[in-house]
Amino acid sequence: MDLDPGIAVAEGPLVYRPSEDSLLLLDSIRLERGERFLEVGTGTGLIALHAARLGPAVATDANREAAALAQANARRNGVALEVVLGNLAAGLRGPFDVVAFNPPYLEGPPGDDLDRAWAGGDQGSEISIRFVSDLPRILAPGGRAYLLLSRANRAARSLAESMFQASVVASKRLFFEDLDVLELRPRGP
Ligand SMILES: C[S@@+](CC[C@H](N)C(=O)[O-])C[C@H]1O[C@@H](n2cnc3c(N)ncnc32)[C@H](O)[C@@H]1O
Repeated sequence: MDLDPGIAVAEGPLVYRPSEDSLLLLDSIRLERGERFLEVGTGTGLIALHAARLGPAVATDANREAAALAQANARRNGVALEVVLGNLAAGLRGPFDVVAFNPPYLEGPPGDDLDRAWAGGDQGSEISIRFVSDLPRILAPGGRAYLLLSRANRAARSLAESMFQASVVASKRLFFEDLDVLELRPRGP
């Protein structure tokens, strides 16, 4: 999806500020009008708001401030977005045609809400591993998921590649890390 300059999001002190990784993921997502969309870990809601212009969209975040901010940003931009405070996609029923996640991908133990935006546990992989493991439950058979990973997230990447047909659809070198966006599709029978 192209960045829409007409979408303006407020930011908050305890919420991840949309950054180059957010824009890399946004740009990688291919979404057709009417497809059912889920963003996990939405932060300000920037990506989910872009999707909500095209069809039904749901967004989750485990950070209470983020969930409230994303809902307020949806109202501010006049788009219908269902925001759920929760752990990854727990409690949600699919199928979703398109799922996106810019996870906490750096090595480190989660602490407060802001840490939770970047700290992905061992190898930075732990949250992504939980996301990938649950993905078959909510992803439509012909659907696709977009997962941003750092090259250091080897365990998450190898799990994703073993469970799905995976291809790299975008890459970017940032100061600290090399990022890839993986497109994941269910394997055929
Ligand atoms: C790197 S930030 C990305 C925010 C936003 N999607 C963006 O691209 O700007 C990661 C987000 O995931 C959320 N998060 C971390 N662990 C989560 C979990 N277990 N369930 C749901 N959200 C989680 C964080 O609160 C944070 O908002």
